[in-house]
Amino acid sequence: MSRPALPLEPDAEQLDAMTRAVGDFAVAQVASLADQPSFDLDGADAVAASFREPAPERGRPLGELLERLRPAIAKSYNAAGPGYLAYIPGGGVYSAALAGLIASATNRYTGVTEPAPALVQIEASVTEWLCSLMGLPEGALGLLTSGGSLSNFSAIVAARHERLGEDFRDGTLYYSEETHYCVAKAARLAGFPRDSLRELPTDERFRLQPDALETAIREDRARGRRPFLVVANVGTTNTGAIDPLVPLREIADANGMWLHADAAYGGFFRLAPGGRELLSGIEACDSITLDPHKGLFMPYGIGALVVRDGQALARAHRESADYVQDVSRHGSLGFADLSPELSRDFRGLRVWLPIQLHGLAAFREQLGEKLALARWAHEQLAADPRFDLVDEPQLSMVAFRLRAPQADADRLGAELLRRVNERRRVFLSSTRLRGRYALRICVLSFRTHADRVRDAVVALKEEAAALV
Ligand SMILES: Cc1ncc(COP(=O)(O)O)c(C=O)c1O
Repeated sequence: MSRPALPLEPDAEQLDAMTRAVGDFAVAQVASLADQPSFDLDGADAVAASFREPAPERGRPLGELLERLRPAIAKSYNAAGPGYLAYIPGGGVYSAALAGLIASATNRYTGVTEPAPALVQIEASVTEWLCSLMGLPEGALGLLTSGGSLSNFSAIVAARHERLGEDFRDGTLYYSEETHYCVAKAARLAGFPRDSLRELPTDERFRLQPDALETAIREDRARGRRPFLVVANVGTTNTGAIDPLVPLREIADANGMWLHADAAYGGFFRLAPGGRELLSGIEACDSITLDPHKGLFMPYGIGALVVRDGQALARAHRESADYVQDVSRHGSLGFADLSPELSRDFRGLRVWLPIQLHGLAAFREQLGEKLALARWAHEQLAADPRFDLVDEPQLSMVAFRLRAPQADADRLGAELLRRVNERRRVFLSSTRLRGRYALRICVLSFRTHADRVRDAVVALKEEAAALV
């Protein structure tokens, strides 16, 4: 049999050349992030259209392909740059990308323990660090997921399994109206129809009201339902509100319910100076969603779930089969035993390498700076009579409105956002709070410092002055 040509297997010299080309490309991208516009979608549709093509039968040179990527990257929100203050930023520390290269290039199997015990331990150590950073006791276990949505999903499945058993159709779960929509999505995927979901009112600072929770639980019980889960926010997406964890824990305990914290945005602020007091009560939750691709500044695709009784995750997810008997001997729980996934990328290395390389102190310092920057932006805008501040920052987020007649408020708010973003130094996003248009600044990237937050504040003040 004739041997095929081997384009899939370049020799060491070619590999080196390819890696250098990609390295040069990536470094040039990252080194210019601060000078790139905060967003640029001019002509983005045409660039997108240029990628609609059949798969080529023959390969093309790497250099040519990297050149094609350049405009595709440029025509986007610069979500990795210092001016990205929209939605929930993260940034993407470069060392995590290097770890991703190593993980993919070595391509070892980490779904179960037996094929690569030490690599699996690297990821297990990362999740042990996360459990301990959140103050969870011995017996807790964690899992790296693809993001907060999947973490919330596995948490709901674990809570359902522990508190309701196999027949769970009469179960009900509770969360505030400010909760991220992925919680409702996860609950539906976990088998709960919409009429099992209770969305509860918040107080003037957008926090779940314990009284409303107690009333809803009581009413459901009276109707023969089984309340089993409270999802608390540790940093809502709209304003960064933190639900009152201590009273929620008491209510959950009194009713035999699971308390899950969606701390996808806020959880890592526990590392900042004063963070334990700020997030007091998180350590008493049954499970916590964390997003390293937010508060640990990792590249997209790294979420986490930590669970107080780690075995609960295994009880909810574990399955077995004869064809895995050779890899089931190690005894310890593999990631496949704790999650919906079997084969998966080795995301542990993408967190392990940055933490080993930079140390936790670097992350603590950054998170402290973000809290201070948000407070500073809040003070600056609060001192300007053109703005109404929605709340004091509970974390690193500032939500505000332009003071304008009710009839014009939405239009003028949207126009202010457009003008500020159009300067292309910063990129902000908007939302609706109690039905009314609001703008928000979310400071979370490790690349965002005082100069860029100052640019945002100056742009807002100047454009507001021009508008009203
Ligand atoms: C509070 C909160 N929970 C969950 C999510 C969903 O996380 P992911 O996008 O990682 O799935 C987000 C996303 O912004 C969030 O802000």
